[in-house]
Amino acid sequence: MAAKLQLPRLAWPALRRKGTTASLRVGLDVGSSAIKVVLASAPRKGAVQLLKYLLEPLSDETNPVRQAALQRVLTTLGVKEGEVRMAIAGQDIVTRLLTLPQLSETELDSAIRFEGETHIPFPLDEVALDRQVLERLEGNKMRVLLVAGKKEAIQRRVALATTCGLKPVLLDVEALAVTNAYLADQATTPEAVTTALVHIGAHYTNVVILRQGQLCSFTRDLNFGGQDLTKTIAEQFNLPPAEAERLKCEPGERQQEVAAALQRGLEVLVGDLRLSFDFYETQLEDTVARVLVSGGTALLPQLPGFLQEQLGLPTTVWSPVRWLTQDGQSVPASLASRLAVCVGLVVRDLA
Ligand SMILES: Nc1ncnc2c1ncn2[C@@H]1O[C@H](COP(=O)(O)OP(=O)(O)OP(=O)(O)O)[C@@H](O)[C@H]1O
Ligand SMILES: [Mg+2]
Repeated sequence: MAAKLQLPRLAWPALRRKGTTASLRVGLDVGSSAIKVVLASAPRKGAVQLLKYLLEPLSDETNPVRQAALQRVLTTLGVKEGEVRMAIAGQDIVTRLLTLPQLSETELDSAIRFEGETHIPFPLDEVALDRQVLERLEGNKMRVLLVAGKKEAIQRRVALATTCGLKPVLLDVEALAVTNAYLADQATTPEAVTTALVHIGAHYTNVVILRQGQLCSFTRDLNFGGQDLTKTIAEQFNLPPAEAERLKCEPGERQQEVAAALQRGLEVLVGDLRLSFDFYETQLEDTVARVLVSGGTALLPQLPGFLQEQLGLPTTVWSPVRWLTQDGQSVPASLASRLAVCVGLVVRDLA
């Protein structure tokens, strides 16, 4: 196996991405609750077409379960082998926004290792580093996004794909994949206001703040997800996890009492979001103007209203596939929100 494949670089728009020549693009999101896949074709520069998508629930997070689920997905989609784009998140990733003096590409490479020593809380020989120049600033400075991913975690992701006959060609950061999906959507209806993307899965909440809708100016993965809410329900109603999960997603007649119990869980998220927004607003002297939520937990009916009220910011669920499907009809709303990472993976490098 080529060294590059054992350790794919973490990357973000406009970084080097060799080997992604196939017009069929496969975006694979191995979440903690489900595997999501989007197949798209990119027949020519700048164009992309959604071909197929699938969500396969995971009964647990062990390797054999993941592998079997991925095999089923590939069989259903008719994908035998080929290139695949993946992402990682959570504790295995560290992202930092740095302000550095203007540097050439070569100077930047060595500066990044030096900065990594200071800003990355892991030994540097245990991580893969990558970076992206985000903007050139006044006073001969530039803002750079530094990303470090644990090699061991990257290796685990890669191994899952390779054992199923796939060839991982790109490893992204989930939060940045969500950002790319959003920016692709914005290409059709741009809104130049500072926007917080809050992608809430089962374990993690990826937060990205885009200054004036454009630049990734803040990113953090919060240790909060739908599993915490399920735990709250389990405790409150004294139920086993599977039943608590069912009651959370389909409360039926018990909607009011379930909503009241969930509120306590959601207050934790609100607290974490406030801290993140405050940090951003102080650091960048800018104000978050709206919140867009996605991910499975965004499907909770009361979530947007609750965040809106608590944060005092307009909050809506957005569909990452709306612009891909033209009419937005072909992907059920219950699924669209969970495909953000996959969409972000397949739309990279279109321009
Ligand atoms: N209708 C619904 N109402 C409430 N919560 C829902 C609903 N549907 C899914 N969820 C929750 O969404 C979460 C799964 O979302 P998603 O698929 O985005 O997560 P994931 O990618 O598997 O997790 P992670 O990225 O955190 O590892 C689960 O916690 C699930 O309970
Ligand atoms: Mg996820």
